[in-house]
Amino acid sequence: MPDSESAAAPPVGECRATPSRLETRVGRVRLKNPVIAAAAEHLIEPAGIRAAIAAGAGAVVVKSTNESQAAKEQLGKAEYVALDSHWNPVPWGADAPPEVTLATRSGLYPGDFETWLAQAVAMDAEARAQDCLLVASLILSGLDRALEMARQVEAAGLRALEFNIGTPYASQAVKGAVSTELDPKRVGELVRAMRGATALPLWVKLTGQSERVPELAEAAFEAGADAVTMAGRLLGMVPDLETHQPVLGTSLGIGGFWNLPLTCHWLALTRARLGPEAHLIGINGARDGHDVARMILAGASAVGIASPVMLRGSGLLREALAQLEEYLAGKDLTVEALRGRAADSRRGFADMPPLQENWRRYITEETTP
Ligand SMILES: Cc1cc2nc3c(=O)[nH]c(=O)nc-3n(C[C@H](O)[C@H](O)[C@H](O)COP(=O)(O)O)c2cc1C
Repeated sequence: MPDSESAAAPPVGECRATPSRLETRVGRVRLKNPVIAAAAEHLIEPAGIRAAIAAGAGAVVVKSTNESQAAKEQLGKAEYVALDSHWNPVPWGADAPPEVTLATRSGLYPGDFETWLAQAVAMDAEARAQDCLLVASLILSGLDRALEMARQVEAAGLRALEFNIGTPYASQAVKGAVSTELDPKRVGELVRAMRGATALPLWVKLTGQSERVPELAEAAFEAGADAVTMAGRLLGMVPDLETHQPVLGTSLGIGGFWNLPLTCHWLALTRARLGPEAHLIGINGARDGHDVARMILAGASAVGIASPVMLRGSGLLREALAQLEEYLAGKDLTVEALRGRAADSRRGFADMPPLQENWRRYITEETTP
């Protein structure tokens, strides 16, 4: 692995003379490409972070931390299951079917803050050498501690911070371990406080468990966020037909390819409300380069991929990048030219032309006279 910053890549945040097709901007920062290795268990330790950097990710968001002991201990109780389209468990690994749903009860980085920070700094040096942005990630527990940690992240020389205030688990975990913020006013207060604590590029990660994702995003931008990541996973419960118990015993964070349309909807609605200058990061449901392109078409400047990489390995990031590059080359487009095209041509139901009993073509023969 490279261990110095002497490689030829320009610093993240500066533009190349001839930008590549894949280059993108997220708020103030330039990324060499829009594929972000997003936080989950495979980014707890250096090996997984290195693998994501080596796979070519434009950015890597490391596994989150906070001061809550309960959130750390929750990792010790974490369980994970991959379910097929009939809700039956399948072996965890790269051979799982593409339409798999992942249901989990995750926790946070298990070590102390100092260890987490030292590791992030070491990984950042390796990321810089590959023109990759390493992003620190804090999940809100207590605000004062979050602000203090952010100050230390900046003082340690890290280059960007994601502030996750929208985990799926707040209602299920020990009180105060993590947060699911649903009120735009509170989002504004939290982000304003964080903005006051650090000058770093600040990405705010929001919940998807809301009808008001665009309003939450607006509040975050008004309070000084550089970008907003949308949207966090949902909670679900899968009953087991044999045991009559919930699978893994509790409600779970759930995700899968099927969430992509929801993410795209939130991206498009937010772009319509806030305009293209509000930089969005799509997350939740992308599993390959075409899905990354779909989220970019919906308005994302960059796209996070987490659970598919945890399940299948970092090669998925490499393949996603190759597929995205091939797609863009085929269309002779750049990421920036693609961004928001579908969102901007999205119409309301009332704008659509009348069709002659179109619905009849979509019911079975037995139900037609
Ligand atoms: C097991 C697991 C652990 C996760 N841990 C974190 C975390 O520490 N911090 C965070 O911000 N998001 C975390 N996430 C959320 C992911 O970063 C991502 O938002 C979510 O999984 C949806 O994206 P995906 O469809 O690519 O998995 C975790 C997700 C999973 C499945």
